[in-house]
Amino acid sequence: MMKTKIMINVAFFLFLLSCQSSKTEIKEENKQVQNEVVSDIGIGPIKEVKLGPIDQSLVSKGKEVFEMKCTACHKLDERFVGPPLRGITKKRKPEWIMNMILNPVEMTQKDPIAKQLLAEYLTQMTFQNVSQEEARAILEYFRSIDEEQK
Ligand code: HEC
Repeated sequence: MMKTKIMINVAFFLFLLSCQSSKTEIKEENKQVQNEVVSDIGIGPIKEVKLGPIDQSLVSKGKEVFEMKCTACHKLDERFVGPPLRGITKKRKPEWIMNMILNPVEMTQKDPIAKQLLAEYLTQMTFQNVSQEEARAILEYFRSIDEEQK
C-alpha cells in the first residue's frame, strides 16, 4: 500500500520534471524570436492586454501614479536615471511595458531588450510596488501622451 503510494509520487514527480523541461525549451524558442522583433511581450505576469479607445479616467490615475513612483528616475523627453518614456508605446508592446513595470529585475536579466537597456543605463530599475491595475493605468497614460504627438 505504502509502496504504491511512493511509486505514484515518483511517477508524478517525473511527470512534472518532464513538463518543466519542455517549458524551458519553449522559452528558449521565444527568446530567439525576441531577438528578431522590436519587442515581444517580455517576461512577467502580463500575457495579454486588450486595448480599447483611450480611457480618460484611467489616464489621470496613471499620470498620478507615474508622477509619484516613476519621476524620480524617468522624464518624458530626456534621458535621466532611466530612458525617456515619450513614444514608448510606439516602440514596445503593451504587455512588454506592463511586464517591465511589474517585473523589472527579471526583465533586465532575461529579456534581450531590457538587458540591453540595463547595460546602457547601468542602474537597476526596481519594482515600485505597483499593482497590475496601476500598471495598466500608467500604460493608458503613456498611450495618451503618444496619441497627442500624432
Ligand atoms: C530607480 C530608478 C527607476 C524607477 C523608480 C523607475 N525606473 Fe523605469 N527604468 C529605470 C532604468 C535604469 C531603466 C533601464 C533598464 C534598467 O537599467 O533597469 C528603466 C526602464 C524602464 C522602461 C523601459 C524603457 C524602454 O525604453 O524600453 C519602462 C517602460 C519603465 N522603466 C517604466 C517605469 C515606470 C512606469 C516606473 C514607475 C512605476 C519606473 N519605470 C520607475 C529606472 C527606474
